Amino acid sequence: MGCQYFDPCDNGADTYTIAIPKYTFGRGCLREAGARAAGLGMTRVGLFTDPFLRDSVYVATVLESLKQAAVDVAVFDETTIEADDASVERGAAFVAEGNFDGVVSVGGGSVMDTAKASMLYGLHPAEEFLDYFAPPLGAGRAIPRKLLPHLACATTSGTGSECTSISVLRINDLATKFVLANPVLLPQEALVDPACSDTLPAMVVASTGFDLLCHALECYTAKAYTRWDKQEDPLKRPLIQGANPWSDLGARKALEIAGEYLERGVNSADDHEARDQLMWGASLAGMAFGNSGTHLGHALSYGVTHLMRDVTTEGYPVKAPFVPHGISVILAAPSIFRYTAEAAPERHFEAAGLLQCDLTGAGIDDSGEALARRLIELMQKTGAPNGLGGVGFGPDDVPALAASSARQVRAIANSPRATNLVDIENIYAAAISY
Ligand SMILES: [Fe+2]
Repeated sequence: MGCQYFDPCDNGADTYTIAIPKYTFGRGCLREAGARAAGLGMTRVGLFTDPFLRDSVYVATVLESLKQAAVDVAVFDETTIEADDASVERGAAFVAEGNFDGVVSVGGGSVMDTAKASMLYGLHPAEEFLDYFAPPLGAGRAIPRKLLPHLACATTSGTGSECTSISVLRINDLATKFVLANPVLLPQEALVDPACSDTLPAMVVASTGFDLLCHALECYTAKAYTRWDKQEDPLKRPLIQGANPWSDLGARKALEIAGEYLERGVNSADDHEARDQLMWGASLAGMAFGNSGTHLGHALSYGVTHLMRDVTTEGYPVKAPFVPHGISVILAAPSIFRYTAEAAPERHFEAAGLLQCDLTGAGIDDSGEALARRLIELMQKTGAPNGLGGVGFGPDDVPALAASSARQVRAIANSPRATNLVDIENIYAAAISY
C-alpha cells in the first residue's frame, strides 16, 4: 500500500528532506537543561516562558540547572497564550538587547513559537512585521540562515513545536493566525519531560491531544510528496512537501497513542502512563508533520480562530473570545475526513484502525464514515464542543469561515483531494453539529 501511495508521478518530486533536532525524553530530564545548553556552547541565554509558568517548578528546575552549569540567564515571560506579533516584538527587543549566545524555551507551543520568531526579528529586524511571511499576506522576504542555538523544553503534549521548523503567530491587526516556516527555525535540541503534563487541566490535555491527533492524521492522509512538483533548488524544498515514508512512521505511532491514551490522559491526571505517552506522541507527530505539512484540519481551524466571538474555554485563563488551537482543529475534522476519504481510502481506513475504531463489518468504502465516527466518539468522551455550533458558529457563518480559511493556500493544496471554496463551505456546513 505504502509503495503505491508514493508511486512516481509525471514531473512529481522524487526526493524529500527530513529535519529533526537532537531529542531527549524522560521524567526528570529538565534537570539536563544546563548541561545541554552548555554542550551547545551557550554561556548566556535568553529564557522564554509565559507568566503562568514563570513561578512553576519547571522553570525553577531549568534555571537551577543552568546555574549549576554556569550558564548566565535572563528571563522573558511576556509570551501570550496565543503567540502574537505584539509579544514577538517584545521578545525581539529582549533578544536584540540581551547579548545572548543561545535561547532556551520552557512552555507550550506559544512559548516555543515566540522564542523562534523573536530570534528571527531580534537578530534580523524587518521593516514591516509581515515581510518574512509568504505572499499574498507578506512580502516573502528571504529568512536569513543563521539564528542562535535553541534548546526547546516542551511542557504540553500537543504542538510538537520543539521538533518543528514552524512558528504560528497571530497577527493582531488582521485578527488571524499565519505560519512562518523555515528550516532555520528548527531548535537544535528538544527536551521533553512528561512530568510537566501532570498538572495540566483536563481541557488543556484534550485540546493539545486533539492537536497531536490531527497533526498525525493530516500528515498520514496528506497528498503524497510525489504528487507535488519536483523542486529544482534543493534549499527551496518546502516543509509542506506532502506525506512521505518518514512522516508515515511518526504519524502511525502517534495515531496509535492518541487512540489508546487520549481519553485516559484527559480524564485522569494521575494516569502517568497515558500522559507520558501523549507527550511522546506529540513529539512524534511534530517530527512527522514538521516534515510533511498538515492539510484541511489545520487550514480550516484558522477561520475559527479568526472569527470566534464571545467564547471561552474551561482550563484556560484567557478572556473571550478564545478557542484553544487543538479544539479549533478538531471541530471540523469529522466532516473533513468524510470529504477526503475518497481520495485516499486505504489510509483513512488504516488511520481509523490505529485510532482503535471498531471496524467490524466495515469495508474500505466506509473509511471516511468510520474515521469520522471515531473522532466524534473521542470528542464526546473528552468533553470537546460538539462541532462549530459548540463554540458559537451557525450556518450563517459558513461563507465567512470559508473565505478566511481559503487563504491557507499551501496547506489546502496538501489535501489528498482537490478542494475549492465551495468544498470548504460544504465541509463547514456539515460540521455545525454531529
Ligand atoms: Fe497544530
